[in-house]
This record gives sequence, structure tokens and C-alpha cells, in this order.
Amino acid sequence: MHNDAERESNAPDHLTSSPHARKEPFGLLWTWWQGDEQPEYPALKGLSIQQSNDRNLMRRYMMLTPADITHRLKDGHRVYLATIDDNFVAYGWSAIGKAAFGSPTVLFQVPAGNRYLYHFVTLPPWRGQGIYPRLLQAIIERESNESERFWIIHQQRNTASRRGIASAGFHIAGQISGTQYEKYVIAGEDEQRAQAGATLLGLPLHHAHE
Ligand SMILES: CC(C)(COP(=O)(O)OP(=O)(O)OC[C@H]1O[C@@H](n2cnc3c(N)ncnc32)[C@H](O)[C@@H]1OP(=O)(O)O)[C@@H](O)C(=O)NCCC(=O)NCCS
Repeated sequence: MHNDAERESNAPDHLTSSPHARKEPFGLLWTWWQGDEQPEYPALKGLSIQQSNDRNLMRRYMMLTPADITHRLKDGHRVYLATIDDNFVAYGWSAIGKAAFGSPTVLFQVPAGNRYLYHFVTLPPWRGQGIYPRLLQAIIERESNESERFWIIHQQRNTASRRGIASAGFHIAGQISGTQYEKYVIAGEDEQRAQAGATLLGLPLHHAHE
């Protein structure tokens, strides 16, 4: 856990010191690749994680319209639910094919071998117990037979999300910045991941001191 916290606190400093980052940081792009370490968590009593196709639950808890649900499932997106005993505590989505982030949305394609993780929520009474990183790890474990690279974005000020993603073992690929309508990626310390991330999102790659 300490290593993750150190990695988390070092990389954003490097990124936020660039002129691009000061301009208009949107958020951070993180990635986990096959072979990366997965920090070990002690089991959380009663926690169970399952993929689901329960449309009623998606409508009720995720505020999705029937059309949203149909599009996501038709596109091959999967939702995973976490329960503790019989309580529904968290969920998150895994996308292949069509995906999007931000508002106005940046649309991109997630190619085979990759997964884009999005729309994660831990219900308020269950926050702060490490459910989010366990859910991220469980998805990686279940989808690793068909995907080598997992990607996730959080908004710049979402510290809770940032800490959960870092502690699940993800690495920063880059910072997404730019104007409302023209975004780019500022490379993190790992050039290969930065390049792959910019390619995934279909955005130009900049470097911190350009
Ligand atoms: C982000 C979110 C999914 C994290 O879920 P979680 O299961 O609470 O995750 P964790 O238990 O690992 O906690 C992550 C961080 O949340 C913060 N946190 C701790 N207790 C908290 C609480 N009671 N309420 C809110 N945040 C809390 C801490 O910063 C914690 O990091 P730390 O344990 O290293 O100090 C959850 O806060 C959430 O649903 N937020 C609203 C939706 C959202 O922002 N989704 C992420 C989009 S990518």
C-alpha cells in the first residue's frame, strides 16, 4: 500500500508541473497491463463479485434508461456487481468497442485485448472499506483471459477514485488536459503506456516540458 501511495504522490507532481497541466487538467488516465503487480488484499468478509445482466437493477441503482442499457450490453460492455452478504454495495462497467469519457464526450474505440473500466460507484454507506480496488482487481482477474490491458480515467479532483485506482495496482499513463473541445494526453513517466493511452483515446500525446 505504501508503494502505491508513493507512486501516486510522485507522478501527479511531475505531471502537474507542466504548462499544459496548469492550463486545464481534466483527469488522469491509468492502466494495468498483464504482468503488473496486483497488491494483495485480505479477504473482505461476505464480499462477492458477479457479472450481471439484471436490467431492473441497472435501471434502479445506476439511473440508466432502458436505451442506455441496451446500447451498453449490445456493444459488449459488462457490468459487475459487488454484494456483501445480501447487500448490494458497489458496481462498475467494463467496455470493449465503443466507449466515451468527459462532457462534451470524447468517443473512442477499445480494441480487442483491451478493456476500458468506467462508471464505478460504491454506495455511500459502504465507502472507505476498500471495495473499489477489490472490484477493479476482480474484473481484471476475470477478464485477463481475453484482455491484456485495462484502462480507467478519473476526474482531476476525484481523490477517492484516484486513491482506489492506485491501490488496485494501476499505473499512470498520462494526464488528460486541453480545452473543453480539444483534449490531449500529457505523457506520464512511462512513455510506452503514455503512447498506448493516447492511441487508445485517439488524442495527441504531449510531453510535460514541450
Ligand atoms: C470513488 C469510489 C468508487 C471509491 O469507492 P470505495 O469503495 O469507497 O473505495 P476505497 O474504500 O478504496 O476508498 C478510496 C478512497 O476514498 C476515500 N474515502 C474513505 N472513506 C470514505 C468515505 N466514507 N466516503 C467517501 N470517501 C471515502 C479515501 O480517500 C480512500 O482512500 P484511502 O483508503 O487510501 O484513504 C466511491 O467514493 C464512489 O462511488 N464515489 C462516487 C462515484 C465516483 O466518483 N466513481 C469513480 C468514477 S472513476
